[in-house]
Amino acid sequence: MELIRLNNINVLYQNTCALKDINMVIYKGDYINITGPNGGGKTTLLKIIIGMVKPFSGHIYFSEQLKIGYVPQHTVFDRSFPIKAVDVVMMGMLNKPKKIFHEFTKEEIKEAEKTMDQLGILSIKNAQISSLSGGQLQKVLFCRAVLTNPNILVLDEPASNLDFESRGLMNAYLDDISKKVTIVKVSHEEKVSTLVNKIVYVSQSLKVENRG
Ligand SMILES: Nc1ncnc2c1ncn2[C@@H]1O[C@H](COP(=O)(O)OP(=O)(O)O)[C@@H](O)[C@H]1O
Ligand SMILES: [Mg+2]
Repeated sequence: MELIRLNNINVLYQNTCALKDINMVIYKGDYINITGPNGGGKTTLLKIIIGMVKPFSGHIYFSEQLKIGYVPQHTVFDRSFPIKAVDVVMMGMLNKPKKIFHEFTKEEIKEAEKTMDQLGILSIKNAQISSLSGGQLQKVLFCRAVLTNPNILVLDEPASNLDFESRGLMNAYLDDISKKVTIVKVSHEEKVSTLVNKIVYVSQSLKVENRG
């Protein structure tokens, strides 16, 4: 089933051509890894996919039941806001129909803590976000996106600030949920998961390598 289709997409920023004549289809169940040089247009491609950037020309078709989880490359985030890591993660659960001033259920809290544990950040759950390292914040925002229960997860270099071990945890987590969630991820890792079914190389134009 097609989730998103890009037909002959061109993106211009003032006088920079960021993407040129892009054609791409994202199917349900895809696990896509996007690579390419700095400035090649990877972030722009993700923004096109989630409808955040309008193309100069071309057409984008979205399937109706799309629920997108997005983790941007650079998060504009007021870090001085007094809030704990776990509360940022729990925001992921807020999209479900709820009464105002509700409390989270035990199950929801358990699920959030389990996800934080899988990413190795349970021990910092009560830390203020202002005190987190870049990598810890990246993992917190990743957990939040995952807990929105999206059917497509769009990740822009989610492991860029992560150490070796954390990368392993995140990749294992993604491999695990890739059976249920469509994943589109930008990363520069040399070893791409064997479960990834498409490798996309973006440098203004696009090359797709289908695997298995
Ligand atoms: N908001 C913007 N305004 C002007 N130029 C931009 C903007 N965003 C990106 N660009 C330019 O578009 C090109 C692609 O950028 P980007 O999609 O961020 O690449 P990547 O994520 O692959 O590094 C670069 O040349 C970049 O400088
Ligand atoms: Mg980028």
